[in-house]
Amino acid sequence: MSGGEAAAVQNLVWVPKAQEIAREAGARLREFFAQGVETEYKGDVDLVTVADRTVEKLIRERLGEAFPEHGIYGEEGTRDRMEGEFRWYVDPLDGTTNFAHGFPQFCVSMGLEQRTPGMLPDEDGTLVAAVIYDPMRDELYTAERGQGATLNGRPMKVSRISHLAEALLSTGFPSRKRHASPNIHFYHEFTLRSHGVRRTGSAALDLAYVAAGRLEAFWEFNLNPWDTAAGILLVEEAGGKVTDFAGNPFRLDSREILASNGLIQDELVNLFKNMFAGRDLAPIPTPQEFAQRRTENRSKAEKGR
Ligand code: IPD
Ligand code: CA
Ligand code: CA
Repeated sequence: MSGGEAAAVQNLVWVPKAQEIAREAGARLREFFAQGVETEYKGDVDLVTVADRTVEKLIRERLGEAFPEHGIYGEEGTRDRMEGEFRWYVDPLDGTTNFAHGFPQFCVSMGLEQRTPGMLPDEDGTLVAAVIYDPMRDELYTAERGQGATLNGRPMKVSRISHLAEALLSTGFPSRKRHASPNIHFYHEFTLRSHGVRRTGSAALDLAYVAAGRLEAFWEFNLNPWDTAAGILLVEEAGGKVTDFAGNPFRLDSREILASNGLIQDELVNLFKNMFAGRDLAPIPTPQEFAQRRTENRSKAEKGR
């Protein structure tokens, strides 16, 4: 049997097994969420809870039993069999800050990469399978390379909106080195030019929402492969596009991601280009300017009485 045929046969098990594991992991997250958990700090405002660690351990055990030769790269430190042909990128709880505050927007994310033997560590293989599970809504997103994407078993497609002016977008802000992020400028500009920008606190779900046609696009600086691997395949298999901010092919270590329904990708890339060059920036009134205008308006109103 050739490698290709072996992969095709194997394909029949990756997603069903991973979705079973993601559902079990999600059920554990629901229990932790209901009972409430203590929060620790990994960085300034980078939170972690017992739920993140317990659920990564569970996924690690289950994947290890199901696919003993597959590697696992998890946010909470798992680095198993990193030399293998297959590697799961696992975020046991994407949206920890939401979770810790009782805000019900978070998920389990698992993306499978197939790597060619001899590849350098910083080279990307091919994303071949993806599962994201939202345990609070019981929504399961899956994709296999070349087989399309599904939401709770039904085929899922990106939206058909073709202009930024009619688009709903989402982004996120880093929990480390927040002061070094320029994203507030992009948030402002995209807000002015679209139907609005959501900031949901779960990058993996944002990507799943682009795939499901609930959002037209998502962007963020400095994400990690465990945040993005599964969501990228969902978006691509649902007919969308994922690149860096310059429109180049996305790489797992890109540190910048721009995902859309494909139809508004060029418009977004162009806006990023102009903004990075210092063009197209609408001024934001400073609080002081606003306060002055408010005082002026008040005194005009008083005179008019
Ligand atoms: C975070 C979420 C958030 C994004 C942060 C991520 P975590 O992941 O995806 O939406 O803005 O950059 O770190 O820490 O909750 O797994
Ligand atoms: Ca994450
Ligand atoms: Ca996480």
